[in-house]
Amino acid sequence: MARIKSRYVCQQCGSEFPTWYGRCPSCSSWNSVVEEAVPVQEGRAARPPRPGVAARQAVRLTEASLTESKRLRTGIDELDRVLGGGIVPGSAVLVSGEPGIGKSTLMMHAAARIARGASVLYVTGEESVSQVGMRARRLKAVDERIYVLPETDIVEVLRAADSIKPAVLMVDSIQTMQDASLGSAAGSVGQVRQCAALLIEASKSSDMASFMVGHVTKTGAVAGPKVLEHMVDTVLQFEGGIHQAYRVVRTLKNRFGSTDEVGVFEMGEDGLREVTNPSEAFLRERVAGMAGSVVVPCMEGTRPFLVELQALVGSPGANFPRRTASGVDQGRVAIMLAVLGRRIGLGIEANDTFMNVAGGISVDEPAADLGIAVALTSSYKNRPVNPRTAVFGEIGLSGELRSVPKAEARAAEAARLGFVNLVVPKASLTRMKASRQLGGQAEVFGAGTLAEAIEYLLG
Ligand SMILES: Nc1ncnc2c1ncn2[C@@H]1O[C@H](COP(=O)(O)OP(=O)(O)OP(=O)(O)O)[C@@H](O)[C@H]1O
Ligand SMILES: [Mg+2]
Ligand SMILES: [Zn+2]
Repeated sequence: MARIKSRYVCQQCGSEFPTWYGRCPSCSSWNSVVEEAVPVQEGRAARPPRPGVAARQAVRLTEASLTESKRLRTGIDELDRVLGGGIVPGSAVLVSGEPGIGKSTLMMHAAARIARGASVLYVTGEESVSQVGMRARRLKAVDERIYVLPETDIVEVLRAADSIKPAVLMVDSIQTMQDASLGSAAGSVGQVRQCAALLIEASKSSDMASFMVGHVTKTGAVAGPKVLEHMVDTVLQFEGGIHQAYRVVRTLKNRFGSTDEVGVFEMGEDGLREVTNPSEAFLRERVAGMAGSVVVPCMEGTRPFLVELQALVGSPGANFPRRTASGVDQGRVAIMLAVLGRRIGLGIEANDTFMNVAGGISVDEPAADLGIAVALTSSYKNRPVNPRTAVFGEIGLSGELRSVPKAEARAAEAARLGFVNLVVPKASLTRMKASRQLGGQAEVFGAGTLAEAIEYLLG
């Protein structure tokens, strides 16, 4: 195959350039632009017909079929939820996450459920058939309707899919796939994009749904295939440290459902177990009555759950205070420390401070502000918050407490879990009163400022 020219492709964002750059002009990454050969046959017309891909014709919009294809439920509720209610036939889903977090495990669990009624083709480019088999046995996912294909050549994968005609094709991982007609190495942006495009095309022209597993680096970017997020219908992202039991699967994008949904799982020897009641799970190991601990009802999409925020305030550092935060935004904690120092007059700013969300999950909404500030104050004063009190609210730079969305749902979840006392922004309380949803039997205190809330809780 004669090559006539090269192109230069950023491995981070996928932008193409006619010349090389040390720093990508489009996403500013250093050393990410790599030369790739452009094969002569790349034009569409010159390409040989691909297996499994039928020619399509334009239809009038008025004649477009409006029947939404029936979703394939996996029966794993936490997975069906993040997919928007099950797998849409013909759709393409990217499942991304850090190494070892449980992507292959989740795929195998799903395969086993789908196999009860339809066939699944599981393509492994990373592991041997026996490794996959061993995992399947450990997960009790062995089924004759699951086909395993150890293959990295995308054309062979499509050929196998064409002959097996599975309801779902799983490719683990997309970074290991390659199209031999491209000159570049497997894992390069050009390859990843090309292989994904072929899979998506094959899915769209049949009813086969495809799942692509994609690795993400520690920094959070899907290594290289960030570009895939634009191409696929749905992006699911695994979160949670691999040393922690809880794994959260988050919907980052969904053409067939709402984003911001989460599924919660717990990793064990027999695989991923669904956590249908995350609040209970996250609070299970809580030691009530500790200074520095406070419970916050958070929202993930439409779903409220309670998390425990923990703060530990040390002695003032020699020169520069050490501050770490895991599970909450470091910047948000810094703002809370400044507000506590300036608006409440708490001499906390020079102290070492450590913040954590129990259970290794992360919370990134402003509604957690009050929890952060209260946990810090509680630890600083070495005075515990009533263990049956939950708090939420956004804090402004003047120390005012601002209302947050879905206050009713948060309050109801706290009440359901037996919390008898709630501290919320005054404005939220007014709205909760108006809608007559006050979270059951709980006593609700509406605070206008952080100072009022702290006085009420720890005064
Ligand atoms: N007996 C076991 N053998 C292997 N893994 C186990 C076992 N029990 C629990 N696990 C968990 O399974 C995880 C590996 O899951 P899995 O292979 O699905 O991850 P992955 O995201 O596909 O990783 P990779 O990026 O390496 O493909 C381990 O991190 C571990 O937490
Ligand atoms: Mg894997
Ligand atoms: Zn770039």
